[in-house]
Amino acid sequence: MDLQGQHILVTGASRGIGAAIARDLLNAGAKVALHFNVSREKVIELEKAYPDKAKGFQANLENTTATKAMIAEVFDFMGSVDSIVLNAGVFIPHPVELPEDEWLAIWRKTIAINLESTGLITKMGIAHFRKMGGGRFVYIGSRAAFRGETQEFLAYAASKGGLTSLARSVARSFGKENIKSFVVAPGFTRTAMAEEFIAKYGEERVLKEIALPELTKPEDIAPLVSLMCSGKMDHATGTTIDVNAGSHIR
Ligand SMILES: NC(=O)c1ccc[n+]([C@@H]2O[C@H](COP(=O)([O-])OP(=O)(O)OC[C@H]3O[C@@H](n4cnc5c(N)ncnc54)[C@H](OP(=O)(O)O)[C@@H]3O)[C@@H](O)[C@H]2O)c1
Repeated sequence: MDLQGQHILVTGASRGIGAAIARDLLNAGAKVALHFNVSREKVIELEKAYPDKAKGFQANLENTTATKAMIAEVFDFMGSVDSIVLNAGVFIPHPVELPEDEWLAIWRKTIAINLESTGLITKMGIAHFRKMGGGRFVYIGSRAAFRGETQEFLAYAASKGGLTSLARSVARSFGKENIKSFVVAPGFTRTAMAEEFIAKYGEERVLKEIALPELTKPEDIAPLVSLMCSGKMDHATGTTIDVNAGSHIR
């Protein structure tokens, strides 16, 4: 994969799947804006490893003002952005047994980070891509949008359903303006997000669900995102590709 000359923003590039995506894009020669919120460590590591290509940008995506400022700063610094990878997300349990206010607070936080910020970044990205003559969005969705989730994660599943629908609408609406849109829908992937679930419910339960003998790693997802950013998949715009170790075959 040769991504020399490509400018790409990855949200949530500081850990897990986002960090693996950023590394793969950098290895392929792209210049990458690494968004993070509180975890600076991996971002600094990548900035040091790729001094001319990697730069970190901080924002709490729960905060609309901070999100807008970060995106404007990235566009300003990069000059032009060719692809935006919308990866940042949270997976917070909120069983229906919780009191309403507590349940609703987690619902709102999840929707704000996983869906509302994604909508805002998409809106700002479209304006930028229009100026540049086109661009690509890669949305990191989830198997949850298609299979559904367990009751502790209703907001998460709803946010990923919304994200998938958003991505498809972008593909339909802006294709003629050379704007492409893809979804990658992972299943369980070995990151901090999944470790919390494994610690609570046990690895056995997760392994039983998948067809392959071992859990997906972030590095199993990253090359697909690089391919989507490369332009070699443009005629698959609007598509969702599952990377779930055969746990939910549609
Ligand atoms: N792991 C899985 O099993 C799995 C399965 C399906 C889909 N996914 C999706 O894949 C994506 C990445 O998940 P992951 O497993 O790599 O998660 P992770 O290891 O928990 O990393 C989450 C990333 O999102 C960022 N983030 C979280 N809250 C944020 C906030 N308020 N503002 C800005 N950034 C925030 C984090 O940044 P900081 O650390 O800097 O806060 C971090 O970079 C998510 O969209 C997730 O839904 C994951």
